[in-house]
Amino acid sequence: MTSVAYRVLVTDKLSEEGLALLRAEKDVEVVVDSKLAKDPKALKEALKDADGIAIRSGTQLTAEVLEGQTRLKAIVRAGVGVDNIDVPAATRQGIVVMNTPGGNTISTAEQTMALMLALSRNTARADASLKAGKWDRNSLTGVQLEGKTLGVVGLGRVGLAVAQRALGFEMKVLGYDPLLSAEKAQEHGVEFVHKLDDLWPQCDYITLHTPLTPETRHVVSAAAIASMRPTVRIINCARGGLIDDAALLEALNAGKVAGAAIDVFDPEPPPADDPIIAHPKTVVTPHLGASTEEAQVNVAVEAARLLCDYLIRGQVRFSV
Ligand code: MLT
Repeated sequence: MTSVAYRVLVTDKLSEEGLALLRAEKDVEVVVDSKLAKDPKALKEALKDADGIAIRSGTQLTAEVLEGQTRLKAIVRAGVGVDNIDVPAATRQGIVVMNTPGGNTISTAEQTMALMLALSRNTARADASLKAGKWDRNSLTGVQLEGKTLGVVGLGRVGLAVAQRALGFEMKVLGYDPLLSAEKAQEHGVEFVHKLDDLWPQCDYITLHTPLTPETRHVVSAAAIASMRPTVRIINCARGGLIDDAALLEALNAGKVAGAAIDVFDPEPPPADDPIIAHPKTVVTPHLGASTEEAQVNVAVEAARLLCDYLIRGQVRFSV
């Protein structure tokens, strides 16, 4: 390696547009090595010679990996969730952690609507049935979104973008967020619910848009599910772990939940024999919320800018 002012590691797939921005900086050397994401020991070694690292969700920056890093100054997550980074450990080491909260909002909101529609119209089952040579229209009758009540848990960027789209489908939208005021929610056409316990029983659809924290783990619990309508359909494009999978499975089997669309798992990838994946009342996708051409360019470009602005120009935006 040549001697440069700043060395930046990229250990997950970052779009070419983002890499090009990093490479355009004459004082930055870019080292792309996705094998490091699977090898914590090698990653720790490589970080000793790095000033910055750009990652997505595949690289785990644990306290163990970050411990003793004296050269590393900045971590940027091309995406929103920083649950694969031990932020307190990074902060203790004086390493700034940044993310790109806006770049994949629309893609994730669109994926949520796609799954809501797929659940309502049995799209995945219909596709499999027709491909298997059947012409079975009777067992595939669906339901409309119009006039139904959607409960949005988490009214951040994605939650509000989903609410806006659901209003376009003429749904009634209820929302809960401990960090938002009722007035702000109302400005977005969302009827604010002050307690989650009051939200569950009112909804035909529930969609989750909150980070995974100790407080939100299993927010969809057995008790929450018990208070929902048996016709409810649940969509999770946020984080695996927000739903108590055992409780969901039991409710699907008992006919206490009509269906669930799940894009995120805990862990990822999930075990191949995960019963939620195999269940006939679920629609599942492998964490594709942000997987569009547009979102991946957005987050990679933003991540590259954040890293260069911090390392070269000493500016911090979106630190978490
Ligand atoms: C995010 O946190 O940005 C999304 O879940 C997408 C991703 O992990 O790549």
